[in-house]
Amino acid sequence: MSEFELSAGVYSPNSLSIMKGEGAIVWDSAEKKYIDCVGGHGVTSVGHSNPKVAEAVKNAWENYAFATARHPHAKREEFLEKLSEKMPFEKSKIFLSNSGAEAVEAALKFARLATGRTKILAAKRSFHGRTFGALSATWRPEFREPFEPLVPDFDFFAFNKVDSLAEKIDRKTAAVILEVVQGEGGVHIATKEFLDGVRKLCDENGTLLIIDEVQSGICRTGKFLALENFGAKPDIVCLAKALGGGYPIGATVFRANLFGEKNIRGRHASTFGGNLPACAAALAVLGFCEEENLCEKAQENGEFLKSKLEEISSPKIREIRGIGLMLAIDLKIPAKEIVGKLQEEGVLVLQTGAKTIRLLPPLVISKEEIGGVVAKIQKVLMHQQA
Ligand SMILES: Cc1ncc(COP(=O)(O)O)c(C=O)c1O
Repeated sequence: MSEFELSAGVYSPNSLSIMKGEGAIVWDSAEKKYIDCVGGHGVTSVGHSNPKVAEAVKNAWENYAFATARHPHAKREEFLEKLSEKMPFEKSKIFLSNSGAEAVEAALKFARLATGRTKILAAKRSFHGRTFGALSATWRPEFREPFEPLVPDFDFFAFNKVDSLAEKIDRKTAAVILEVVQGEGGVHIATKEFLDGVRKLCDENGTLLIIDEVQSGICRTGKFLALENFGAKPDIVCLAKALGGGYPIGATVFRANLFGEKNIRGRHASTFGGNLPACAAALAVLGFCEEENLCEKAQENGEFLKSKLEEISSPKIREIRGIGLMLAIDLKIPAKEIVGKLQEEGVLVLQTGAKTIRLLPPLVISKEEIGGVVAKIQKVLMHQQA
């Protein structure tokens, strides 16, 4: 039986079997080469099969026993220290998990625990994950409705509209959760004015601000966290995807005084959270970001890619938007066929919504590879019927 027959059936199948990868390139089972602008949905920022990450995981696997995060370990400590240096808090505390949804779940639980309140406000067009809490903060009705009733006391406000949040927020609101660049929603960027307004409303109401950097974090937008582009000031930050360079890890980072004197022992946990191969992988990723100036590279490559896309003169393009290497092309025609044609041409891109293409390439992509991507997009758009 095929994998598609054996697996649950929740993914829309793509017959492309990706066998190996290096940097921004992947190869299929027939050794056909593709420039990868899907990047495992934003995971492979340090490139496919990054040798530093591979070595760190191998070393951890061979040398460390498995124990839960109750037991301290020098490798985990080193990683936590390094990660906390990069966070927008004077002093941070970190809960480690295994995915983006788990990082969000922990953030939501911590917000309720810290404030003693229940209400959570999320933005329209948001995506925070598929577990019940994260899903309750996720906008798209087709994701939510089959599973209702979801977690109570969640509501939505309009993205980039301070007035819309002002109408909903009150002194019962535990947290506002927000992506500063909405990824799954189609790469929509928050304004600084909006983020300043959100912070002010949170402060006035004693509400916490959770910023979900699961997709936008780890240099993708030209800064280690996308929020740095706008000087946004969160109380809790969620990370995952690119943090482990392909090895699963999630992190919920919060300012150290979030809980005041409250003892939260036993209030949350994860068997695999903080496992040592994951910590070693993520530590290698953080090292690679620094050694290779990955944030600067993402900014430079992002500007280059965006400018080249803008040079394509096609009546089928409505808008190109994004920041760093988190880019979207809004089309006037359905995106599905374009995505398929690009795959045939050796370029992998993501579809987001009916008429939008999203690009999340490894940040190590070369200028030559970017040139190849743009040439193929131009070719496919030129030949596609309107
Ligand atoms: C902003 C954001 N938050 C959370 C998630 C959920 O992450 P995961 O699929 O690892 O659970 C995603 C996944 O795309 C995401 O983009």
